[in-house]
Amino acid sequence: MAEFALPANSKVQPGRNHPAPQGAKTPRRFNIYRYNPDETGNPRLDAFDIDLADCGPMVLDALIKIKNEVDSTLTFRRSCREGICGSCAMNIDGHNTLACLKPIEDVKGEVKIYPLPHMPVVKDLVPDLSVPYAQLTSIQPWLQTETPPPPDRERLQSPEERAKLDGLWECILCFCCQTSCPSYWWNGERYLGPAILLQAARWIHDSRDEATGERLDALEDPFRLYRCHTIMNCTSTCPKGLNPAKAIGSIKEKMVERRL
Ligand code: SF4
Ligand code: SF4
Ligand code: FES
Repeated sequence: MAEFALPANSKVQPGRNHPAPQGAKTPRRFNIYRYNPDETGNPRLDAFDIDLADCGPMVLDALIKIKNEVDSTLTFRRSCREGICGSCAMNIDGHNTLACLKPIEDVKGEVKIYPLPHMPVVKDLVPDLSVPYAQLTSIQPWLQTETPPPPDRERLQSPEERAKLDGLWECILCFCCQTSCPSYWWNGERYLGPAILLQAARWIHDSRDEATGERLDALEDPFRLYRCHTIMNCTSTCPKGLNPAKAIGSIKEKMVERRL
């Protein structure tokens, strides 16, 4: 198989080659970003030739096979393997997505796998998500009320009120959108980013929540909300088919409404 050619100015070095086993029927090359903070030197790109005839259909299946059979030091997050936990988010073939939902056959040629972009890397395919998680905490993602709940039942919503949460509650916090957003790349410490703003919208639009005013006050800031320039990378990359840009727009509408 041909070598994967790195750009001339890349700081990622060509790494180790792991050839396919003898007699492999359908070999396919996976080029995987490797970084170990305990080693000196730049990150490298290791090549693994895997026999697809002996591998599950998803990119996560190939990563697990490589870790189990070729290089146990390969490090990545995963848990549910069915698009629910959000932990296997990474950049595959140039797009942020979930490795467990990405069929290998959808990638043409060699499969290039990098960590989510523009985040510090803990090891290999594991990004440091401390900043987005701190930002998530900052929007207080839980129901806030002043009035006591009914004594004999939960707080109710009409079907129409509940429908306002559709497109928001399904977010699995994978941060594919967050790390695809140019505004977040350049202002990630101050702009909350699409994943966190979608979460904020989830509580702002909840009819049972009684802290809407305070939530909007907290976002009334040149950076936290208004650094979204509607570039739409977030919406085109979401592996759950959600629309963070629309959610951000709905917060801006609420801001306008309360000024009228
Ligand atoms: S629409 Fe807003 S949040 Fe989405 S990628 Fe563009 S700037 Fe980022
Ligand atoms: S909106 Fe989509 S891409 Fe963004 S964190 Fe939620 S599930 Fe992931
Ligand atoms: S392993 Fe849970 S979303 Fe992929």
